[in-house]
Amino acid sequence: MYLSALQLDHYRNYDQVALEFSPDTNVLIGENAQGKTNLLEAIYVLALARSHRTNNDRELIQWDSEFAKITGQVQRTVGQVPLELVLSHKAKKPRSII
Ligand SMILES: Nc1ncnc2c1ncn2[C@@H]1O[C@H](COP(=O)(O)OP(=O)(O)OP(=O)(O)O)[C@@H](O)[C@H]1O
Ligand SMILES: [Mg+2]
Repeated sequence: MYLSALQLDHYRNYDQVALEFSPDTNVLIGENAQGKTNLLEAIYVLALARSHRTNNDRELIQWDSEFAKITGQVQRTVGQVPLELVLSHKAKKPRSII
């Protein structure tokens, strides 16, 4: 099982980004403050519905945005599992269709 795809909408410094991952090693390369740790944090948040860096979910929402959305595809031996977490200033809504 592995995370095959990730999409971020208004998550921290990401306006919108869509990534695909290899089942092997994936390497993130970027300048300081470019968003490497934010991206790893987004994967953690999608898995556990909380951040390892802050207890305040509002910090995860891009400044001046109303919401943040993290969407992922988990590739399993049999089929894919779509995951989605929407964070607003008032609520946190997870969605998974298995
Ligand atoms: N809620 C937010 N909205 C917009 N930008 C944000 C938000 N939270 C953090 N940022 C921005 O994200 C950037 C930091 O990203 P991150 O910590 O992921 O960088 P990094 O690539 O890991 O950097 P380093 O190499 O220094 O560890 C900073 O520019 C910060 O201002
Ligand atoms: Mg970092």
